[in-house]
Amino acid sequence: MRIDIVTIFPGYLTPLGVSLLGKARERGLLDVHVHDLRGWTTDVHRSVDDTPYGGGPGMVMKPEPWWAAISAVTETGAAGPDAPVLVIPTPSGRPFTQRVAQQLAAQPWLILACGRYEGIDARVAERASESMQVEELSIGDYVLAGGEVASLVIVEAVTRLLPGVLGNADSVVDDSFAAGTMSTLLEGPVYTKPAEWAGRAVPAVLQSGNHAAIARWRRDQALRRTATNRPDLVERLDPDELDDRDHEVLAEPPASDDHSS
Ligand code: 6GU
Repeated sequence: MRIDIVTIFPGYLTPLGVSLLGKARERGLLDVHVHDLRGWTTDVHRSVDDTPYGGGPGMVMKPEPWWAAISAVTETGAAGPDAPVLVIPTPSGRPFTQRVAQQLAAQPWLILACGRYEGIDARVAERASESMQVEELSIGDYVLAGGEVASLVIVEAVTRLLPGVLGNADSVVDDSFAAGTMSTLLEGPVYTKPAEWAGRAVPAVLQSGNHAAIARWRRDQALRRTATNRPDLVERLDPDELDDRDHEVLAEPPASDDHSS
């Protein structure tokens, strides 16, 4: 997959060289190019923003450098079915979910446009949508200073879904929020050696070798954690996929959040 990222802070994207993403790039699974938007400014001040029409606080990113950048990047590659998808991270976008990550992972080419200030002049997305798919995406209900960190989130979530990026292909299937199977249950607690640490034992069932009992215990834990942390997800569970034991667990009083007791 090819990913181009346009930003006024290229240094913000240096984590793309580290860890999973860095390795995926070294292995040729991911081809990332970071571009400085100011390279497409034409005035001596290299300005990328101006005051908003209609008044109000803050500044809006000017359309000309953005269109020049998107045009220049797009011209280096294919049109038609292999055309890029333009991703614009913004708190006003539609929610970025695991499903959206899966859809983006199926694309050959993404361009991420990182806005700052109050956002990018709306005519840029409007014009781009005449020649490519445009996705305005929000990574959650809070406000960041710009799209760079959101782009890192999106790139990491998408990249780990690419074939060959993760060592163990199963680790994607089991994820909280993976589509299918336990789609909307959170994952429960996990343990490793030593079997006893600081006076705390790993639950005996996990050391029993009884795979059915382990699976049932994990599902109980997943249901409890989901009921405590994400009651909205419990509401959305398919009743046909719940057995009698599931209903027993869900009927328990919700666990307290207090990890000190
Ligand atoms: Cl995608 N951008 C910004 N600036 N803030 C956000 C966001 C994106 N998603 C949530 N908050």
